[in-house]
Amino acid sequence: MNDPVSPADALHELLDGLPARQAGLAVDRLIANYRGATPTDTPILRDRADVAAYAAYRMPATFEAVRSALEAFADAVPDWTPGSHVDVGGGTGAATWAVGATWPGRRPVTVLDWSEPALAVGRELAASNPALEQARWQRARIGSALTLEPTDLVTVSYVLNELPAADRTALVDAAAAAAQAVVIVEPGTPDGYGRIIEARDRLIAAGFRVAAPCPHSAACPIVPGEDWCHFSARVSRSSLHRQVKGGSLPYEDEKFGYVAAARFPVDPAPSRVVRRPQIRKGQVLLDLCEAEERLTRTTVSKRHGDLYKAARDADWGDAWPPPPSS
Ligand SMILES: C[S@@+](CC[C@H](N)C(=O)[O-])C[C@H]1O[C@@H](n2cnc3c(N)ncnc32)[C@H](O)[C@@H]1O
Repeated sequence: MNDPVSPADALHELLDGLPARQAGLAVDRLIANYRGATPTDTPILRDRADVAAYAAYRMPATFEAVRSALEAFADAVPDWTPGSHVDVGGGTGAATWAVGATWPGRRPVTVLDWSEPALAVGRELAASNPALEQARWQRARIGSALTLEPTDLVTVSYVLNELPAADRTALVDAAAAAAQAVVIVEPGTPDGYGRIIEARDRLIAAGFRVAAPCPHSAACPIVPGEDWCHFSARVSRSSLHRQVKGGSLPYEDEKFGYVAAARFPVDPAPSRVVRRPQIRKGQVLLDLCEAEERLTRTTVSKRHGDLYKAARDADWGDAWPPPPSS
């Protein structure tokens, strides 16, 4: 039997016994905390109820966002598979599941977080995933004292937004010092974009090359304040998820920003679709970030033949033109 790809079933089992009212209250507290003045000096995920709420309310979405980022990264490094993985601020382990979904197989995995309850629930969820059987779930505080063991891949998913500037810098520098490849994911907001660009600049200064989403490692052509680079991942919602989060749609779209960079040679997309394509009669409008370090809008029409068919299938976040095999 194949290893499970997503944490959905494990989450369902974990949350099955949780009374809806209790879960609802924990979600309300979590939202209030995340709206408050983060960063904080102590973990927001303080107990099992907080963590269960986080897992139900956010983990399916952070998992899909990281998986999308890793897929784009994998396309740019087709011959590479991480031999080891460290997930910093890993919480309940969404990124460990996403790495397994992108590159199936066993590898040493370490999850670092300062919240013991988050690590405990992450360990419990991972029990149903043989690829994560050997994973180590360790307490660690992100700060100037953080050092990471050498590893192939470091992921940092939805963590920078919880850190003061000095700790963000320390974390990105520690990741750059330890890893062959670093993937950082943040909420798809203007502030999240700002933190991604800050991290991207540091990784490039440390000798990394950007593999995705950018087609190049030069300056980002987006003018800060005018726009922000972000993407969207579809998250299917279980009935439990709907119960905890409210609403009735069977899915939601998680907006996220990311940077994936490596010390080894990468083959980034020639350009990337940076907005949802607009399909008109007989033509598709694509907003692209190009290798020539500029943003352009291109119109692909029926007279472009196969390219037009490809444009109709193109999605926000895809490489353009699509690689010959796809
Ligand atoms: C929004 S959660 C993201 C969890 C997970 N990476 C994901 O994508 O679902 C942020 C995580 O960062 C951890 N964290 C925040 N500040 C930290 C710090 N200074 N040291 C260690 N962990 C920290 C929190 O405990 C929490 O698990």
